[in-house]
Parts: sequence; C-alpha cells; structure tokens
Amino acid sequence: MYKIVEFSHHLIQNFYNYNSHRHLTFIDATCGNGHDSLFMANLLKPTDELICYDIQEIAINNTKNCLAQSNFKNITYHLGSHEVLIEPHFDLIIYNLGYLPNGDKSLTTKTSSSLKSIQNALEILNKSHDNCLIIIVLYPGHPEGFKESMEIDNFCYQLNSKNYLVCKYQNYNRPSAPYILTISKNILKNT
Ligand SMILES: C[S@@+](CC[C@H](N)C(=O)[O-])C[C@H]1O[C@@H](n2cnc3c(N)ncnc32)[C@H](O)[C@@H]1O
Repeated sequence: MYKIVEFSHHLIQNFYNYNSHRHLTFIDATCGNGHDSLFMANLLKPTDELICYDIQEIAINNTKNCLAQSNFKNITYHLGSHEVLIEPHFDLIIYNLGYLPNGDKSLTTKTSSSLKSIQNALEILNKSHDNCLIIIVLYPGHPEGFKESMEIDNFCYQLNSKNYLVCKYQNYNRPSAPYILTISKNILKNT
C-alpha cells in the first residue's frame, strides 16, 4: 500500500526504466520542498536535464538545499509560474499541486494557471515523440484544491481518447484523498 505521492514516484521510476536509453528532460512544475525533484535527480544520468519551477523563493531555495544531496547537477531553476513553460521540450513533467507543506497555504496552485500550464504541456507533448508523460497530483481535500481537481479532472476526461490516454490512480474509497492523473499520447490509436 503506497501513499499517493510515493505512487507518483513509482510512475516516474517506471517511465525512467523504459526511457533511460534516451537523453531525458524532466520538469518539476511545482518544486516546493524539492522531494520530487530529488527523486528525479537521483534517477537521471549526468547528461540529462532537470528543470524546476515554483512561484516562491523559499521553495526554490528549499529545492536547491534538498538537491545538494544529489550528485546530479544539470538543473535549471525558474522562480515564476509554470503557466508559461519556457522549455520547448520535455519527456516527463510532474505537477504536484496544492500548497507548500509547512508554508503559506494562500500560495496554493490555482485552477486557471494550472489548467493553462497543462494545456501548454499538452501542446509540447503533441509535437514530441510518443513516450512523453504528464503526471498531475491533485488534492481535493481543501477548498481551492477541490475546485482545481474538479476542473482538471473534467478537462482531462474530455481529452480525445483517439489522441490521448488519461489514467487516474486513486484510493477508490477515499474520494477526498489526493489522487493522480496521467496523460500520454494514445499510440495504439484504434483502441
Ligand atoms: C504541494 S507543493 C509541491 C511539493 C513539491 N513537489 C515537493 O516535492 O516538495 C506545491 C507548490 O506549488 C507552488 N506553486 C503554486 N502556484 C504555482 C505556479 N503557478 N507555478 C509554479 N509553482 C506554483 C507552491 O509555491 C508550492 O511550493
């Protein structure tokens, strides 16, 4: 039995195992205290890339401190919103939404900017190779997170299944617990 954040790391690990023969660019769209970034940094090869976004300086600093534990050094930090993704390409992007644990809860991710960023990530995915992955960790247990999860869920549910595979990983009998959505290209097309 895994906590949902641990499960997102299993998804990242699995993605890495299948794709490690390529040069990889991973984006942490909400780096927070750096735990997801550290997990990715510890997987990546020295020539791969890790890009970290957060709107809070304290989060960027916490992530830098956390990543000091890793030998991986090819990291770019963006202090700013992930709404505009500066990179033209990624292989995997993770959005661990919500607020900084032990931080200012008013600085939580917001529905409109999260959706805008996910739409931008989808445009990048459309132009990219078949094995790109978007991972979204949602927290419906607080008011802004509930609204955000409803709208992102609805957006993902309506993505054309001919083009995209959307998966949901959830504790089925705990509807207000955090859960995960993933988006990838549907490379099987006819299924
Ligand atoms: C749940 S925390 C992320 C946890 C982090 N991934 C970790 O492993 O520690 C959510 C983070 O999203 C950040 N955030 C909120 N709005 C954002 C935005 N528009 N762009 C980028 N980061 C944002 C918050 O500042 C907060 O640090």
